[in-house]
Amino acid sequence: MKKIIITIDGPAASGKEKIAKYIAKKWKLKHLDSGILYRQLALIILKKKIKYDNLFELRKIIKSKPKLSLRKTKKIRSQEVSALTSSIAVYKFIREYINRKQRQIVKINSNQRGFVIDGRDIGSVVFKKADLKLFVYVSEKNRAKRRYKQLIDSGEKSIYQKILKEIKLRDRQDKNRKHSPLVIPKGSHLIENNGSFNDTKKQINYLIRSILDGLSK
Ligand code: CDP
Repeated sequence: MKKIIITIDGPAASGKEKIAKYIAKKWKLKHLDSGILYRQLALIILKKKIKYDNLFELRKIIKSKPKLSLRKTKKIRSQEVSALTSSIAVYKFIREYINRKQRQIVKINSNQRGFVIDGRDIGSVVFKKADLKLFVYVSEKNRAKRRYKQLIDSGEKSIYQKILKEIKLRDRQDKNRKHSPLVIPKGSHLIENNGSFNDTKKQINYLIRSILDGLSK
């Protein structure tokens, strides 16, 4: 059977990860969080004390083909790493490196039934021919509230107003960058994730059942 590809795009803290995990578990697909790859790369850059605008050193890092773990550690979720991640995600050579990694991961896992991949440009650039493309919408304030709670629950110190500001800044950077900006991909379905997760699940289940029915015919 053909490998199923479902993409989920959306702004910071819109709940892409929770939706992706839910879909992966229910339909036995593998989840790939592309943000982790960007964050792991940012962490390497941070550790080497390289600034986001030092293109010479950044290119040297990419040339060395750094291994990027898919482990979601506490370090990569810090605000420092989040801010650096969006700053380095503007560069075409960095995006191309990470896009290649994503396609390799999908290719080498040929035993998987399919993948659900989340990020900012997955349906618009990386997997344009996906079987189903979702775009998650949540208001800025709800996203900031959720991210604030997430940080507090994980034991980090956090201030709501600061989180809201950081989310707005990252959204601006992600939407306005020249290469692969955050857009609603052509042919995608809008998932409204402001309310309860049960509401969100209903929207998703309806869409996935219809594509799976179509694929098995
Ligand atoms: O979890 P959250 O939505 O806050 O972010 P993430 O998915 O972990 O991504 C962190 C940052 O990586 C984003 O703000 C983007 O700048 C960048 N990113 C990207 O440009 N393209 C992707 N496919 C995934 C992440």
